[in-house]
Amino acid sequence: MKTYRIAMIPGDGIGKEVIPAGQKVLETLARSESSFQFEFENFDWGGDYFRRHGSMMPANGLDALCGKDAILFGSAGDPEIPDHITLWGLRLKICQGLDQYANVRPTRILPGIDGPLKRCRPEDLNWVIVRENTEGEYSGVGGRMHQGHPIEVATDLSLMTRAGVERILRFAFRLAQSRPRKLLTVITKSNAQRHAMVMWDEIAAQVAKEFPDVTWDKELVDAATARMVNRPASLDTIVATNLHADILSDLAAALAGSLGIAPTANINPERIYPSMFEPIHGSAFDIMGKGLANPVGTFWSVVLLLDHLGETGAAQRVMKAIEHVTANPLLHTRDLGGNATTVQVTEAVCSEIAATAKSPLTTA
Ligand code: IPM
Ligand code: MG
Repeated sequence: MKTYRIAMIPGDGIGKEVIPAGQKVLETLARSESSFQFEFENFDWGGDYFRRHGSMMPANGLDALCGKDAILFGSAGDPEIPDHITLWGLRLKICQGLDQYANVRPTRILPGIDGPLKRCRPEDLNWVIVRENTEGEYSGVGGRMHQGHPIEVATDLSLMTRAGVERILRFAFRLAQSRPRKLLTVITKSNAQRHAMVMWDEIAAQVAKEFPDVTWDKELVDAATARMVNRPASLDTIVATNLHADILSDLAAALAGSLGIAPTANINPERIYPSMFEPIHGSAFDIMGKGLANPVGTFWSVVLLLDHLGETGAAQRVMKAIEHVTANPLLHTRDLGGNATTVQVTEAVCSEIAATAKSPLTTA
């Protein structure tokens, strides 16, 4: 029997509620699968750790993660600590340190979910956004000087490398190729940003030659927002820079019904380092500790984790259980207009997983 070693990093806010829920789902699944089991290790990194130690995670924290098969992450953010410190001290440190350069964000309207677009049928909105995850606008290069003086100056440099752009575009073309429609939209802003974004366009045209069976087009990021709303079915796989895709993926999640549902995979495609899976909703202090958080974003992230481990059958079982539960409005959390609690949704998904367990072999 295979043992998968999973690092759990709940982090802050509702991360502390949804990650244990995700662990319950994985444990329930493992009880009914005879070919694998999980070994969990919990890491208490985040805002509370910062208050005790002055950093979001220990200096050698990445080493502890390197021995894992995957990481399940909640969120980083604390009302008492500036956002750029919590982000750079934990999530970005892991994504960049473990070279998780491909951020994958699937979006679909799940059964029972009422999206805000009037004319959009569920089958019209089935996207995967691929976000460059290690450089660009999030490269962290820049600085401030003359702080507090009238001549104060600050820069944030968006840094794009040919190697970085090539690898994310190749990843996106490959992903598009694996999906039924084989359709990729490359998003830039190469009319206004006339250096790095023009390089993206050029590299896209080069990489496209390796994928003659993939149909691809280009869209400027502002026009892309309108296209997502007006012509959702014209999109399938989408690739964009770190910041552009960050913004587009919130729009995508909202159009699919709720940010509480949307999952993410931070992938190191070469598998030199473990990949990390997380809901995109963030720490949501307004509802933390109240049991109201929607755990579906974490459960869908668990599906992506299982897929990454190659457990596609198990991944499908969890996805089916999630869809069975979202189809029931009585099991909708507040973000979906319902009254269900995190615990109720978790129990419902777990009992569905248990109910669909393969029955044990019987001998005649
Ligand atoms: C996301 C989030 C993060 C980001 C925040 C929490 C800093 O919005 O994963 O999309 O911008 O990368
Ligand atoms: Mg975001």
